[in-house]
Amino acid sequence: MKVILVNGSPHKEGCTYTGLKEIEKVLRAEGIDSEIFWIGPAPLPGCHGCSKCLATGRCVFNDSVNEFLGKAEAADGFIFGSPVHFASAGGAITSFMDRAFYGKGKIFRLKPAAAIVSCRRGGATATFDQLNKYFTISSMPVVSSKYWNMIHGNTPEEVMKDGEGMQTMRELGRNMAWLLKCINAGKESGLVSPAQETPIKTNFIR
Ligand SMILES: Cc1cc2nc3c(=O)[nH]c(=O)nc-3n(C[C@H](O)[C@H](O)[C@H](O)COP(=O)(O)O)c2cc1C
Repeated sequence: MKVILVNGSPHKEGCTYTGLKEIEKVLRAEGIDSEIFWIGPAPLPGCHGCSKCLATGRCVFNDSVNEFLGKAEAADGFIFGSPVHFASAGGAITSFMDRAFYGKGKIFRLKPAAAIVSCRRGGATATFDQLNKYFTISSMPVVSSKYWNMIHGNTPEEVMKDGEGMQTMRELGRNMAWLLKCINAGKESGLVSPAQETPIKTNFIR
């Protein structure tokens, strides 16, 4: 079983990474494979709404989103991390998530997910709420911890001093590992995935 931990920060090894690394340590101790996937420093365009991905499964912008989607198909669970920028997720990770999730339901359905957010001071819960919406529109079980998944600091060193935040990360890792093992045990016992109805699309025009 493998978890991809997406670092949605412009900093490769900054505060968000520090939180993800703490989760990764626990996942590995629990026997779960992992990979930290950095969205990268290059500008990431937002979704243009061309809907070409609905046919191809990949974005017309061939950047780290497509690289991630290739890996996501084989992954069993996900942690998405973002720095807080103006009390919201960073611009790059927002573009990344919009394009990774639009029309890609089959890749993510029934795979557990969690968000973590990193901030200096404020806007953490708003950002956390924003990221969780990608999971709850994609039939993904959301993994929680003993607090909302936030760490505080402006540098990795400060984040490491956030004892409660780091403990929240570790507990999240343990809960993710436990849920993955439960899902795997269910599959091995012959439990089948819930049936899906033919989608109904009701726009607000009657
Ligand atoms: C453009 C920008 C906006 C920011 N806005 C906020 C904010 O609204 N609230 C906050 O607490 N920190 C804010 N910060 C600070 C970062 O969230 C914080 O330093 C974070 O831990 C950085 O994570 P990283 O090292 O993974 O990028 C902002 C930083 C930047 C660059």
